[in-house]
Amino acid sequence: MSEKTQRAVFATRIGAVATTVGSAVGLGNIWRFPYEAGTHGGGAFMLFYILFIFILGVPVLCAEYMLGRGTRKNVFGAYRVTQPKGSQWHLAGVTGILASILILSFYSVVAGWTVEYFFGSVSGALTNNPSQDLHERFAEFSGGTWRPLIWTWVFLLTNFVVLLRGVTKGIEKVSNFLTPMLFVLLVIFCINSLTMSGAKEGLEFLFRPDFSKIDSKVLLAAMGQAFFSLSLGLGCMLTYGSYFSPRTRVVRTAVTTAGLDTLVAILSGVIIFPAVFTFGMSPSAGPTLVFEVLPSIFNNLALGRVWSSLFFFLLILASLTSTISMSEISIAFFVEQLNMKRTTATIVNTSIAFVLGSLCALSFGPLSDFTIFGMTVFNLFDYVSSNILLPFGGLVVSFFVGWKINSKFIENELTNHGQDSCHVKGALTICLRYVAPIGISLIFLNTLGII
Ligand code: PFF
Repeated sequence: MSEKTQRAVFATRIGAVATTVGSAVGLGNIWRFPYEAGTHGGGAFMLFYILFIFILGVPVLCAEYMLGRGTRKNVFGAYRVTQPKGSQWHLAGVTGILASILILSFYSVVAGWTVEYFFGSVSGALTNNPSQDLHERFAEFSGGTWRPLIWTWVFLLTNFVVLLRGVTKGIEKVSNFLTPMLFVLLVIFCINSLTMSGAKEGLEFLFRPDFSKIDSKVLLAAMGQAFFSLSLGLGCMLTYGSYFSPRTRVVRTAVTTAGLDTLVAILSGVIIFPAVFTFGMSPSAGPTLVFEVLPSIFNNLALGRVWSSLFFFLLILASLTSTISMSEISIAFFVEQLNMKRTTATIVNTSIAFVLGSLCALSFGPLSDFTIFGMTVFNLFDYVSSNILLPFGGLVVSFFVGWKINSKFIENELTNHGQDSCHVKGALTICLRYVAPIGISLIFLNTLGII
């Protein structure tokens, strides 16, 4: 982001919340949450996901906001101006940049599936044949070569045009009222799912933890999902924090963002799992789950084609506000650290995602047998970024803000330079100094089998 836009400020509190929610709410809530919950035991995953959102997510979110707003810089600059002389904390920004590119690559594939489903809904191809085997239909589509590739490219190009033409603000304005519309739609679908015959079983699966299912995999996945869903640990929220006005209340904004984001994920779970059990599907289908279940819901709904078109359209927009926010991280880096022009930086960002995204798009078809550590390229990118790079970034930022930054800086950020009161400073400091760094480290060590 240029120096000029760096200093721009959201005019209102609603503006700040709407934009951070725009980044947070996306495929992570509607596609990734149900599939991760489904493959990690449902309730057991849910329990830790919610716990991690509040004991790790909210504090790390506050840390990113404070560091961004207090310095008015991007991730590198923010560390640079606050770190003790001679230290190299800003290098942590590198993992953020790497993560943002990996995420953009696989995220665009899923957004591409959404585009295919949007056109399928509009043309009626998706909802016209209730007896169709949706599992097979999706497998055939995602396992092909050209269609997944082309939709990934179409989505990446749209993202590129939006970034290049600087119409980000326009998109954000549109999404400010379309995100609430998506929310209303989700509530309607939720009510519909609650009337299904499998509702009880679905809700039990999602909300009743089976403690025997808790293991290191579940903990790591729940932590990764918390970070992914809140766009945390890679400098995205830090950059957005740099736009906050001096009056924005950091903690309140963090709690509101996390609360709304979590609500959308839960709504999505309540839509999907009753349908999974009603239609006799498997909750642990993985990344394809939502794309198999949603059409069966729409097929059984009056005016299914209209609902389905509207839903996939809103989901594309929600994905776009998320990809814009993650693209900005590497673009800002290319511009400010490597002195590239913004246009060149945007081309580089999109080109890398084009190549890597294509590998991800083919991971369900021609490249499905090409695995690294037993994972396809798509799964590897998803796993490494969400479960390793983002929590690692969160570990660094919480430790940095908790221990390395002048406590006057934190005091000023929390109280808006003494204008407001802040009753949670003590609790937040404990979370940043101890709970987050130790919690994240323990989960990493547990995954490695060391403890
Ligand atoms: N939080 C977004 C979602 O849930 O869809 C994904 C995301 C956006 C991750 C931006 C990381 C990021 F920087």
